[in-house]
Amino acid sequence: MLRTHTCGELNKTYIGKRVTLCGWVHSRRDHGDLIFIDIRDTYGVSQVVFDPKENRSLHDKAHELKAEYVIRAEGVVRQRPDGTKNSKLATGDIEVLINGFEILNVALTPPFEVSDSSLVADETRFKYRYIDLRRPAMQKNLRTRHKIYSAAREVLEKENFVEVETPFLTKSTPEGARDFLVPSRLNAGMFYALPQSPQLFKQILMVAGLDRYFQIVRCFRDEDLRKDRQPEFTQLDMEMSFVDEDDVYKISEAFIKEAFKKALKIEIKTPFKRMAYQEARGRFGTDKPDTRFGMEIEFLNDELKDTSFKIFKSKLEENALIGAINLKGKGDLSRSAIDGLIEKAKSYGAGGMAYFKCEKGRLASNIDKFFKPEELEAVKNKTKAEDGDLVLIVAEEKETALDVLGSLRISLAEKHSLIDKKKHSFLWITDFPLFKYNKDEKRWDSEHHPFTSCREEDASFLDEGKFGKIRARSYDLVINGQEIASGSIRIHDRKIQEKIFGIIGLGKEEAEKRFGFLLEAFAYGAPPHGGIAFGLDRLATIFTGSTTIRDVIAFPKTQKAICLMTGAPSDVDDKQLRELNIKKIGRL
Ligand code: AMO
Repeated sequence: MLRTHTCGELNKTYIGKRVTLCGWVHSRRDHGDLIFIDIRDTYGVSQVVFDPKENRSLHDKAHELKAEYVIRAEGVVRQRPDGTKNSKLATGDIEVLINGFEILNVALTPPFEVSDSSLVADETRFKYRYIDLRRPAMQKNLRTRHKIYSAAREVLEKENFVEVETPFLTKSTPEGARDFLVPSRLNAGMFYALPQSPQLFKQILMVAGLDRYFQIVRCFRDEDLRKDRQPEFTQLDMEMSFVDEDDVYKISEAFIKEAFKKALKIEIKTPFKRMAYQEARGRFGTDKPDTRFGMEIEFLNDELKDTSFKIFKSKLEENALIGAINLKGKGDLSRSAIDGLIEKAKSYGAGGMAYFKCEKGRLASNIDKFFKPEELEAVKNKTKAEDGDLVLIVAEEKETALDVLGSLRISLAEKHSLIDKKKHSFLWITDFPLFKYNKDEKRWDSEHHPFTSCREEDASFLDEGKFGKIRARSYDLVINGQEIASGSIRIHDRKIQEKIFGIIGLGKEEAEKRFGFLLEAFAYGAPPHGGIAFGLDRLATIFTGSTTIRDVIAFPKTQKAICLMTGAPSDVDDKQLRELNIKKIGRL
């Protein structure tokens, strides 16, 4: 090693010792005669001192040192004089009096200071990612992420899981997004697809008798990006044979528990709570509820069934849902703030929104005259409104009303700081519908993916064509209102798999063309199996308290899926295209 110690480890116990440190010049301060340099590496910062009384020529040479130069410095550890100690630094009690150093590399002036407090535009951070990653917070993020990986490997190793890699150059596996395609040079006109997930390979590994598989694997999805989505992201992917839901929950909980312990030193309680999809939708307006705060949705259809308020009356005639949330203690919001909330509700899909303030024991608003006192009283009781509360009411088609109230609930909680960010909530969402109706294309789609099996009790609905009523054996793990993992007990029977393909509009021929290999594998003795995949980027985002998954990915892409550091995607040579039998036609 070029060094004897790291920049983070020296303390009082090293006083008098001769040490050699390597790292980056974090800062230089000239104090009268003395020059102080903070040397930084990933482990911390150490202060070194150049004293002209000790060595004049070294001191003179130290004037050459600039920010981010890479240096190697040798000297003796000594106590910092009283009044100059820095209790915020692990090495703050000591400094190193230098008696030799060398510049290992010079550096251009960095585009921004390597400090957690410097405010830098994302574009600059991504372009100079190697400098951005030098910041202590980013180093910590990558280390935390690593700890999650090592927790996964440790837990799964103990449980007999085998890590197997599956191909990246493969055939399209539908997970609901567009594929990234790779042209084949050796097979003119043909394309591989980068996997959206290893779903089919892991199922085939079960047919191959592997029993317990896992992989920390990159997945590729060409979808519109948001702050919790990247075009390439990492899953902890698992599959097991001869299991039911409880087995998957158990191993998943063991992983999450160990990860919290290892990365954050937090002991969490398992097993996690479970909630059926319908209940989650009804109470929280979403299938990924954040249960760290209340403000649950109340249905007012019974309370207002005979209302003469025109809008609600006509909505009720259309079978709408009248739903409400109670924003506790915010009855004093101004008219314009409430107008803002109404606009927000509209942006979420509502036609409008009614509101009531609870004052002197009754609900009051601009429309209260259209309601009978007993109706207002019933609404007040149902929403548990007390003086000073603000009750917001949306009457829309059921799914729209739930979407709107669910989104409002989250946005209000954020705005009014109702979420205790130090807490974590864990929840299994179960019993998702197997299918969802695609209104635009007038057909049924799989809610999760078409390899999900259905609850035994609902199997008869398959033959009766009551597709909307079928519950899947699928589950999501939701942490703090974010979908962190998703999985299911799979179909392992060729005939049932073919039936499901048929329902989602994949004819026999098409199913054969796309998934013939899976159907064929199922014909050779497929065991019952199930699994799950965790979004590790999202999990690391929660662990590090980051606001975007980009902060836990070493080299992320922008909203437009561009890597600003390398410049990908980029133009390629005509020669490369010719080899691939591809002709440029420009934008269509
Ligand atoms: P699913 O598509 O739900 O399931 O993905 C599993 C988990 O991966 C994460 N995730 C993402 N993270 C970042 N960027 C993205 N674009 C992105 N898309 C998904 C989420 C999600 O919960 N094969 C199935 C799993 C299975 O059935 O076993 C699958 O991929 O956290």
